[in-house]
Amino acid sequence: MRTILISRTSPPLRAIMYICLCNAITDRQIAEAAEAGARSRADLAHQLGVGLGCGRCVSCAEAVLNEIVADPPCPAEKLAA
Ligand code: FES
Repeated sequence: MRTILISRTSPPLRAIMYICLCNAITDRQIAEAAEAGARSRADLAHQLGVGLGCGRCVSCAEAVLNEIVADPPCPAEKLAA
C-alpha cells in the first residue's frame, strides 16, 4: 500500500485508491471490511459488492485484502485515515 509522508511530525497519510470502479469501493473500505472479518473475495462481494459489476477488480481487491490482512495498519495510521 502506498503512503504519502506529509511531514516528519505527523503520522503518514495514505491516499485513497479506488479498487472497484463499478461500485466506487476504495482500499480504505476494504481495510474496514478486513477489520470487520472479511478474509476472501466472497466476503468482499457480500460486504461491499466488490466484483459484482464487471468483475475486473476482483484480483486487485483480493490482493489488497491479503496485503491488509498480512500487515494490518498500526493504530496511528488508522487515526490519520
Ligand atoms: S470494477 Fe469492480 S465490479 Fe467492475
